[in-house]
Amino acid sequence: MKVTIVGAGPSGLILGILLQKRGITTRILEAADKLDAQPRACHYAGPGKYELERAGVLEKIQAEGFHPGGVTWRYKDGAAVAGIDQKSIPESSVHRMVCLPLGRVCEILYDEAIASGVEILFNHKVLGNIGQTETTAWVDVSINADVQRFEADYIVGCDGGNSQIRRALFGEMEFPGSTWEQQIVASNVYYPFEKFGYNDSNFIVHPTDWYMAAKITKDGMWRVTYGDVPGLTKEEYEKRLPMRYKQMLPGAPEPSEFKIANIGPYKMHQRLAEKMRVGRFLLAADAAHLCNPFGGLGLVGGIADVGCLCDALDAMNKGLTDDSILDEYSRVRREKYQTIVDPMSTANFKRLWEKEPDKAFAEDEFFKVLEKANKDEKLMNKLREASMALCHDMAQFYKPPVQA
Ligand SMILES: Cc1cc2nc3c(=O)[nH]c(=O)nc-3n(C[C@H](O)[C@H](O)[C@H](O)COP(=O)(O)OP(=O)(O)OC[C@H]3O[C@@H](n4cnc5c(N)ncnc54)[C@H](O)[C@@H]3O)c2cc1C
Ligand SMILES: *[C@@H]1O[C@H](CO)[C@@H](O)[C@H](O)[C@H]1NC(C)=O
Repeated sequence: MKVTIVGAGPSGLILGILLQKRGITTRILEAADKLDAQPRACHYAGPGKYELERAGVLEKIQAEGFHPGGVTWRYKDGAAVAGIDQKSIPESSVHRMVCLPLGRVCEILYDEAIASGVEILFNHKVLGNIGQTETTAWVDVSINADVQRFEADYIVGCDGGNSQIRRALFGEMEFPGSTWEQQIVASNVYYPFEKFGYNDSNFIVHPTDWYMAAKITKDGMWRVTYGDVPGLTKEEYEKRLPMRYKQMLPGAPEPSEFKIANIGPYKMHQRLAEKMRVGRFLLAADAAHLCNPFGGLGLVGGIADVGCLCDALDAMNKGLTDDSILDEYSRVRREKYQTIVDPMSTANFKRLWEKEPDKAFAEDEFFKVLEKANKDEKLMNKLREASMALCHDMAQFYKPPVQA
C-alpha cells in the first residue's frame, strides 16, 4: 500500500511515522519550505501521549519538556478557587500531561519520520485539482513554477484548518460550524508568574480580562493566551499587548518587567467536516475539525484521529479487513468531535467569561465535580480513564475481505 499525506504539521508527521513503521510506503507533501514555528499547542494529555509513544518520540519529548504540576482556576486578583493536582501521578503514566512547544515537537517528529524512511517533500503545494478512480487517487502539486501529478492508493489531508483537500472535496466554503466572535492572542513571554503564587497552568475567570497563563518550557517561558478587540493586524496587537498585560496580569507589569518571545493573534472556530472519507481521500485533525484551544483538545483530538487512521489502513494492508473500516473511521472520529471535543472545548472556554466570576465558581457543575474528585481518589481516577475516550480501538470493525 502507498499513502500520500498532505501537510507536514503534527498530525501529518505522526501519521507518516506510524504508517511507515508498519511497512506502508508513505510520502508527505508540504507547501511551505520548512516546518511551522508559530506559537501553538504545547500540552499533550493522555490520548496524545499514547500516540506519541507509539510513534517512538515520547521519550525524547519527556526529556526535553516537563510535566506540569497542576492547573488552577483563579479570580483576576490571583485567588485560586479550584484546581487539579497532577503531581501525584507518576511521570511515566499516560495520564500525566507532558509539555513541550509544538514547534520543537514537530522537529523531533520530522527527524523520526526521516529516520523511519518517510519521504518528505517541502515546497510541494497541493492544488484544487484532485481526482480518483477505482484503483488510485491523485493530486496536482505546484512545485516552483511546475505542476506535477502525484498518485497513491490513499491520500490523507492533514493540511490544517484551511485544508485544500477538504475544500476540493466539499466546496470552498463548506465547513459546517461557527466562528467565535472573540479574538485571541497567544503570546510567549518571560515573566515570573511563580512570584505571584501561580501554578504551572492557570485559567483566569473574568468577563473581559479572562486569560490562560501556563509555563511551557523548563527555562521559564510562559504562554499567555488572552482576548482582545477583533479585527486588528498583528502589529496592532503587538502595540496593544503592554496595555493588556498591565490590565490583566498579576503585578500589573511595565514593559521593562517582561520579555516577549513572540505573539500570534488568531480567530477560533468550532467546525466539523461533513465526512472524513470520500473514496480514496481521507481527512484528519484540523483539516477535518477545529475547536478553540482552551483545554488542549484540538491537537490531542487530531493526534487521536491519526492513531485510528493508521490502525485502519494497517489492518487493510494486512488483509484483516476490507475498506469499510474507513467509513467507520469517519463515523467514529466525527462522533468523538461531536460528543467530546466540541462540547468540552466550548464549555472550557465559556467557563472563563460567560458568568460573573462569583457566579461561575458557585454554579458551574465542573467546579463541583473537581471539588468532589479532589477528595475522592477513585472518582479522580475514573475521570482520568474517561479522558482516554478520545482514542478508539478500530479492531472491532474488522470485516475480512471476501477472497477472490
Ligand atoms: C496560535 C495557536 C495556538 C494554539 N494553541 C493550541 C493549544 O494550546 N492546544 C491545542 O490543543 N491546540 C492548539 N492549537 C491548535 C493546534 O496547533 C492544531 O490543532 C494543530 O497544529 C493541528 O495540526 P495539523 O497537523 O492538523 O495541522 P497544521 O499544524 O495546521 O499543519 C498543516 C500543514 O499543512 C500544510 N499545508 C496546508 N495547505 C497545504 C497544501 N495545499 N499543500 C501542502 N501542504 C499544505 C501547512 O503548511 C502545514 O504545515 C493552536 C493553534 C494556533 C494557530
Ligand atoms: C498550586 O500551588 C500551590 C502553592 O505551591 C499549592 O499549594 C497547590 O497545591 C497547587 N495547586 C495545584 C492544583 O497544583
